[in-house]
Amino acid sequence: MERDHSAMLETSLDGLHLELLHLFAYQAAGLQMPLYLVGGVVRDIFLGRAVNDFDLVVEGGIASFAESILKKYGGKILVHSRFGTAKWILNESTFKRLDFPVSRFPDFELSFDLVSARSETYSQPGALPTVERSTIDDDLRRRDFTINAMALRLDGNHYGELIDPLGGEADLERGTIRVIHPKSFIDDPTRIYRAVRYEGRYGFQIEDDTLALIPDARSIIAELSAERIRHELDLILAEPNAASMLARLTELDLLKPIHPVLFFDESANSRLANIGSFRALRRISPWNLDRGEGNKRVLGWLLWLMSLSHNDIGSLNLRLQFTSDFLASLFATSTMFSTLSSFADITPSQCVERLSLYPLNAVEAVYFIAPDEKIKDVFFKYLAEWRHVKPHITGDDLRERGLEPGPRYAEILRRLRAAWLDGEIKSTEQESKLLDKLL
Ligand code: CTP
Repeated sequence: MERDHSAMLETSLDGLHLELLHLFAYQAAGLQMPLYLVGGVVRDIFLGRAVNDFDLVVEGGIASFAESILKKYGGKILVHSRFGTAKWILNESTFKRLDFPVSRFPDFELSFDLVSARSETYSQPGALPTVERSTIDDDLRRRDFTINAMALRLDGNHYGELIDPLGGEADLERGTIRVIHPKSFIDDPTRIYRAVRYEGRYGFQIEDDTLALIPDARSIIAELSAERIRHELDLILAEPNAASMLARLTELDLLKPIHPVLFFDESANSRLANIGSFRALRRISPWNLDRGEGNKRVLGWLLWLMSLSHNDIGSLNLRLQFTSDFLASLFATSTMFSTLSSFADITPSQCVERLSLYPLNAVEAVYFIAPDEKIKDVFFKYLAEWRHVKPHITGDDLRERGLEPGPRYAEILRRLRAAWLDGEIKSTEQESKLLDKLL
């Protein structure tokens, strides 16, 4: 079926992005430079998904294109001529020049990446490629899958023209993930993880010949840097279907080649299967943890790996080189998970004593998966209430009472806090009386 691609563009992009796209198209036409929308954005437009970000490729020098945008519309341009890339960062003056109401200026940084069409060669399997300026056709052929190797031309009369030399549109219709050449996974084994991510996200299937290329690339997975493999797992863990993607990685034997302790069993599946509702719950929870993007991924990692022993976590860390904050959270979830039943009959002060040793995101992850209502309630009260309880009496009060500063201070304040938590005292008078007794 012949589609009207320009109409698809108009319906998939929001008003602001569409206007900016027209601006790029107009500018490129003036310079007689072919300009294309490429990669994942074209795929998502075809799938009727909303897109709020796009990759643009020009055939020609990126510097002159970037220069012309800057001259006409202001903002800031960062050019890397060596890599053929430029980033245009819009500011309020751009909005004025564009005649956009400044009230529409977003409160996040609005920027666009512009790239020269290029070809790539891999000197070594798993390493980053050497790039060279080239045509749009070569640029599409260097990519991972046919569904990611389509371009929509934008400049002048070419607006809406589809460039699809590898049959991406047909594969999208069939729901097939197919590599472009048989060495693709050997050049870059991260693509295997990308294939599984697209399968799970769109309900597609990796095509048989492509599946058959995985065994030869499996041994190269060990050579991927910690950062690259972590990034792929990060992307998977940020998806609502993360659990089914990890199950598929297990089925294709793609976790053990990263590290022998990596697993995905029934129990990990049941912890991760509800990640979507955990994220929704987190948004309305009465505690107020950092809800940034990074944290969203951390939750997935913790739910997945909390059943590992400290030994295995240490060994996995040698391969994946986690950040020290994340590592502390992972050790903490592992400790709490392996001692979960001991939280059933615990006083509030004992609970605070134990949980205050741990990062809050770790406590939160264990709260989400706690199977027993009683234990869940303990974790809930800690997060929402108990961790905020402090005695009214402070160190200054103790000094006024003539107590020499020293370790006794912390001991007394801890004892007073415990008394508040366990309901032993309920007023400042009672607190004062208890202090008299302790002194
Ligand atoms: N690409 C590739 N090989 C990789 C990574 C990326 O060929 N290992 C190409 C693909 O054509 C991809 C484009 O670079 O469409 C942009 O990469 P990325 O932003 O990671 O993918 P998107 O498709 O834009 O986004 P996502 O996977 O998140 O939907």
